[in-house]
Amino acid sequence: MANFKAWLKSSDESSAAELARNCPGVVTLLLKDHKAMRQLMAKIKSHRSSPALVVRSFVALEKLVISHMAAEESALLRHLKVHPKFKSEALEGWEEHRIHEQIFQGIRQLQSPERKQMRMKIYCEILEHHLHEEEEDLFPNYRKYFALSTRKKDGRKFLRKRLETNIGTKRVGALTA
Ligand SMILES: [Fe+2]
Ligand SMILES: [Fe+2]
Repeated sequence: MANFKAWLKSSDESSAAELARNCPGVVTLLLKDHKAMRQLMAKIKSHRSSPALVVRSFVALEKLVISHMAAEESALLRHLKVHPKFKSEALEGWEEHRIHEQIFQGIRQLQSPERKQMRMKIYCEILEHHLHEEEEDLFPNYRKYFALSTRKKDGRKFLRKRLETNIGTKRVGALTA
């Protein structure tokens, strides 16, 4: 794990072999992202947060969710979608991601700051529901069914996509040691 931490700090292509040896299983990484999302959601939902903090936290949450969804799809949902045991759960998760994208688009198009902030808070409820479903059903079933070697391989795929899509924003969740 120490080498994995070093890789996250440098994360240049030359240390990709290091990652291959030391990457955690994908569920560990997914849960680190979920935790970072919940920290941002707490700020968005708090009555003590200023409107500026709500908006700032939502912008960070949207970037994290978009990168996380892309990585979750590439590492997990893409192969589970065609797996007889996981097909329906994976397809549902996939379609839910599309709904999240539509909600982000809708919020961006709103003019009224009050309505925007109201929708940001409502979105947090929808996201919490999605995270809860993954954590209660999909992740435990996946963990039971697939060997650690597969989970690590999916972990490497997940991290690569997270890094690739984490553009112009600070590293949080799975991208922290
Ligand atoms: Fe998801
Ligand atoms: Fe997720």
